[in-house]
Amino acid sequence: MAETLTIVDNRTGATYEIPVTNNTIRATDLKQVRVADAPGLSTYDPGLVNTSSVKSAVTYIDGDAGILEYRGYPIEQLAEQCTYLEVAYLLLHGELPTQEQLTQWQTVITKHTFLPENITEMVRHYRYDAHPMAVLMSAVAGMHTFYPDGREYQDEETRWRQIHRLIAKMPTLAAFAYRKGHGLPLVYPRDDRNYVQNFLTMLFQVGEPHYEVDPRLERALEVLFILHADHEQNCSANAVRAVASSGNDPYTSVSAGIGALFGPLHGAANQAVMEGLNRIGSVANVPGYIAKVKAGEERLMGFGHRVYKNYDPRARIIKKAAEEVFEVTGVNPKLQIALELEKIALEDDYFVSRKLYPNVDFYSGLIYEALGFPPEMYTVLFAIPRTSGWLAQWQEQMTDPEQKIVRPKQIYTGHRGRDVVPLAERG
Ligand code: CMC
Repeated sequence: MAETLTIVDNRTGATYEIPVTNNTIRATDLKQVRVADAPGLSTYDPGLVNTSSVKSAVTYIDGDAGILEYRGYPIEQLAEQCTYLEVAYLLLHGELPTQEQLTQWQTVITKHTFLPENITEMVRHYRYDAHPMAVLMSAVAGMHTFYPDGREYQDEETRWRQIHRLIAKMPTLAAFAYRKGHGLPLVYPRDDRNYVQNFLTMLFQVGEPHYEVDPRLERALEVLFILHADHEQNCSANAVRAVASSGNDPYTSVSAGIGALFGPLHGAANQAVMEGLNRIGSVANVPGYIAKVKAGEERLMGFGHRVYKNYDPRARIIKKAAEEVFEVTGVNPKLQIALELEKIALEDDYFVSRKLYPNVDFYSGLIYEALGFPPEMYTVLFAIPRTSGWLAQWQEQMTDPEQKIVRPKQIYTGHRGRDVVPLAERG
């Protein structure tokens, strides 16, 4: 079978043969398709719904089959058998660590958990009600001022140093943003606790000298961190890569990713789901809410996905984790509303015909609420683990000789060649 595409330009009658590789044509091959002196043919793709901008070996998704793999390992097995730090190592190094490599990795990450005091001061000086995602975004960008060596990304050792720093400091930053927002004194990182225990301690320790984390809740958060660690070329990974493409350090690039994640169509959907459940209020109101969604007055947050046209495999794992958390915390009363929404939506033609299924954000908020997190922290809980994915994407971008500065084309629809009328003469 010929791996080519034949294009007949009906404007000119000319025929072109274009190579097809990996079921993809190169957009620049279309440039030869042209009429007289006009620029060559290009594609128009708002939201980049059908454009591959990178070759990546990090994460594989088959949206129709509901498959998600990090470096070839199914998400179900990783969530069952690994810790988040093992998965972060996998995403960044390409292989699961041996026990020795994991011990070294944990040690180096633990060594970097402290923030520069000036960053801590910066966090302290935001308004009392600052959204922690905005704090996170600006503080990560601000880290560039402390670690300007982040720009020397060609040097492998320097690159890894920034990676260690960012993975280590994100939970500290997130916990400080939370504590500050609640008027609580900061709890500094400890080196006798693992990544998730340390985070929960920095968040929730108050007066007790030996704050202990329930191992079942710790495991639930570990699983949530694993599920959120990467998701190939989503909106925030694309933002990280676009900013990195002009030669940027990981702090500047990841702060762009945090900004992209902050939007309600992306990471902040988990907060929006809970706000939706609060508005619905009771199971009896579910049919009325669904009717509003179908009339286009509301969006059912936590449903639908650009890539998954099947049940999001992460949602299935989260649903199970929710049951385990509720055994410790008691059932979140909003679970019944969520289950009823899911039941009606999965049977209703509006959702079925559009292949709208629950995504990762549909059940995660219920767990976060049961764990005691306020809604504004939900997206932060997404950003902490996604940092390893962003850094894997950043590293791949910086070491890929085929990558270029991101600079899309446009179809210009504005005026041309107008003369400026002096101010006094404008009507
Ligand atoms: N509720 C109601 N209708 C929906 C929804 C929804 N959640 N999602 C999509 N649709 C409809 C949409 O109105 C459109 O209908 P029509 O063809 O009649 O115009 C059709 O389904 C296709 O939707 P789309 O907006 O063209 O699809 P997209 O691929 O551009 O958007 C999405 C994907 C995730 C932004 C969208 O499904 C959505 O807004 N979902 C709710 C927000 C959400 O849960 N986001 C989290 C995504 S998963 C985690 C993450 O990425 O952070």
